[in-house]
Order: sequence, then structure tokens, then C-alpha cells
Amino acid sequence: MYDKVLESIKFIKSKTSYNPKIAIVLGSGLGSLTNEIEDAIEIDYNEIPNFPISTVTGHAGKLIFGKIGGTEVMAMKGRIHFYEGYSMKEVTYPIYIMKMFGIEKLILSNAAGGINPSFGDGTLMIIKDHINFFGTNPLIGKNDERFGTRFPDMTEVYSENFINLAKKEAKDLNIEYSEGVYLGTTGPSYETASEIRAYSTLGGDAVGMSTVPEAIVANYLGMEILGISCITNMATGLATKPHSHESVIEIAQKVEKDFCLWIKTIVKNLK
Ligand code: HPA
Repeated sequence: MYDKVLESIKFIKSKTSYNPKIAIVLGSGLGSLTNEIEDAIEIDYNEIPNFPISTVTGHAGKLIFGKIGGTEVMAMKGRIHFYEGYSMKEVTYPIYIMKMFGIEKLILSNAAGGINPSFGDGTLMIIKDHINFFGTNPLIGKNDERFGTRFPDMTEVYSENFINLAKKEAKDLNIEYSEGVYLGTTGPSYETASEIRAYSTLGGDAVGMSTVPEAIVANYLGMEILGISCITNMATGLATKPHSHESVIEIAQKVEKDFCLWIKTIVKNLK
């Protein structure tokens, strides 16, 4: 793995001289932040040696390097999901690349279903913690101490400093937000109403099919993490109509403007 990551990085470095310390993973329907990246250099996933790419759908995502308000960033447009059939190591491979590229701070975004009844379509939720309901863990397997310790602590996966900055910027920008616990499941089917009642009892405020594997690995690698969920629908049993991926994308796109402004401002003010 270590050597594979080095090979990927060697290729990426041959394409860009940017040295960002901040990376952003863009969730479903939230990709337009990339339009705001200045002097952008785009690298298709399928160009990068060892990068897991979809052989099924044919369209891969992109790594984008550039600047937001003068700050260098690396953005992932199009993430790799466990439900596509990738292994947990493949799902989290880009996070290892980020680490060895020098990324220190990571913003993870996603589309999610709302479990907390105070949420509504379009709520932006700061992730304060997560529940891993994938039934597996991306760190299973032989541990490479060059990356991190065998048994990583998970007391503060989502950085309090980072969260406080996000809250301050939201207030200054007049952007409404909520806070809650993200429960990650494999998907790809949406949940049953009974599952949502169970997840609510367990302490989940939102449910989605990503983010948790990436957060586990980024925490293991010592990165500071901020997580933002865009509640694109109320979860099964709380929603008034059946879910569809199209309406998830539609709602995400409606809050994209606020989301982009918020993330841009956070990036500019990160120290
Ligand atoms: N459940 C799981 N993942 C999701 C949902 C949902 O209701 N909405 C967007 N992603």
C-alpha cells in the first residue's frame, strides 16, 4: 500500500506544483464548489496509477488542485462508495494519498437523510460524531506503522476547533446550521422505517452511505476533520414520499450556494 501510494503521488506531482494542506471531499450534488477553485488543475482518477476507478459506470471522478481565496486546496469531485463494490481499502485510498501529499485538514461533505425530526430538506448539519454501521472497518488487516497506530483513539474524530470555526463563519454569513451524529451504512438501498427508528434510538441524527470510512482513516492518519451533511430528505418513515436519487441531487443543488459560500469562507479563515 505504502509504495502504491508513493507511485500515485509521484504521478500527481508530475502534473501539479501545488502543495495544499487542505482537502475537500464533495458529496452528491455538492460538486459545484469546484467551479470556484481558481487556477485549477484537474486530474482524472483513471489517469492516476493505482487509483481505484469504476470499471462499471465508465465515468470516474477528478482530483482538482487550485486556490480558494488564495489558499491552496485539493478537492475530490466524485467519491468512491463501498456500495459500488470497492473494498474498504479502495474506498479510503484517496485519503492515504492526501496524507502523503501533505494534507493536514480534511473537509468531508455528503448528502444524508434526516433522522432528527427537527431537521428538514436542505438542513446543513455539522457532524459532531459518527456511528459506524458499515459492519466493517477500513483499518482491518495488517497495520503499517508508517501510517498510524494499530488501535487509533476516536475521542475527537471531528475536530472541535474546526467545528467552532465552521460555526463562527456560519453565524457571520447568516447561514443556518444544525449539529448531529452521522450514522453510516453501506446502502445502496435506502433504509426501512424500522431501521430508521432503530438508528434514532441508537443516537443517529442523520443517515448516509459514505464519510465514515474516510473519517476513520483520516483520523488514523492524524488529520483534522470537519464533516458537513446536507440533509437532502427526511429518512424513511419521517418523509412524506418515497426517496429517489434525483430528488436527493435536486435538494443538494438547492443548498449548494450556501454550502459553497460556507466552505469557501472556512477555507479562507483556516490557520
Ligand atoms: N439514506 C441514506 N443515504 C442518503 C439518504 C437517506 O435517506 N439521503 C441521501 N443519502
